[in-house]
Amino acid sequence: MDVLLLGASGRIGRRVADELLDRGHGVTGVSRSGEIEGVDDPELVSVAGDATDPDDVARLAAGHDAVASTLGPGDDESPDVLVEMMEAVIEGLGRASVDRLVWTGGAGGLHVGPDTRLVDTDDFPEEWESLARAAIDAYDVLEAADDLDWTYLAPAAMIEPGERTGEYRTAEGELVADEEGDSYISMEDFAVALVDELEEGNAVHTYLGTGY
Ligand SMILES: NC(=O)c1ccc[n+]([C@@H]2O[C@H](COP(=O)([O-])OP(=O)(O)OC[C@H]3O[C@@H](n4cnc5c(N)ncnc54)[C@H](OP(=O)(O)O)[C@@H]3O)[C@@H](O)[C@H]2O)c1
Repeated sequence: MDVLLLGASGRIGRRVADELLDRGHGVTGVSRSGEIEGVDDPELVSVAGDATDPDDVARLAAGHDAVASTLGPGDDESPDVLVEMMEAVIEGLGRASVDRLVWTGGAGGLHVGPDTRLVDTDDFPEEWESLARAAIDAYDVLEAADDLDWTYLAPAAMIEPGERTGEYRTAEGELVADEEGDSYISMEDFAVALVDELEEGNAVHTYLGTGY
């Protein structure tokens, strides 16, 4: 499969690039500068592009089988740029006639109880709240994109660099937590989940939580 990876220079993106390349897929990795450090595979094609610009997205996506996003706001940007990115990506994919998108989203919109999302719980960290709410706003835009075969794949509440075990669990619309209530996944195993979803397409039109 030939995959356009938006956000390939990011912490999660580099690991998704490695996982795709290790499985023999073609990867065109996008960052704003065109530089992607930390992915050693010479098969990676690196290109510059702005994911808030639908023209750029359409130009870059053309000819690919699928698009994966590990986009996140830059350090000096409002989290609301996630909505701008989502709108541009949906429009760009439409113009390029690419109909498969796996988007790395946020855990904040996942349910921890029948009527309670993680972001609405009392101990949700205040410093992450605006990012979590922007990610939910971006999800709302994606949810309306009926013509696109999208998957909104959310990490566990905590995601860090770690080990690739190849093991993980998923849940539709729900936070995945272990028996102690801890919700965690390594970035390497999140990358496994994302590439599995690209290959298998088991969760089209789904907000899918991941974790152990
Ligand atoms: N528990 C959770 O819910 C949770 C935890 C962690 C992360 N996440 C989400 O996962 C996503 C990825 O996280 P991360 O930590 O890997 O992010 P990151 O390291 O900040 O990477 C963000 C990526 O987006 C790219 N980017 C930013 N603006 C762009 C633009 N206008 N055009 C093209 N590329 C652009 C960056 O590239 P350049 O800066 O090189 O251009 C970089 O590759 C984020 O949306 C984040 O909110 C969720």
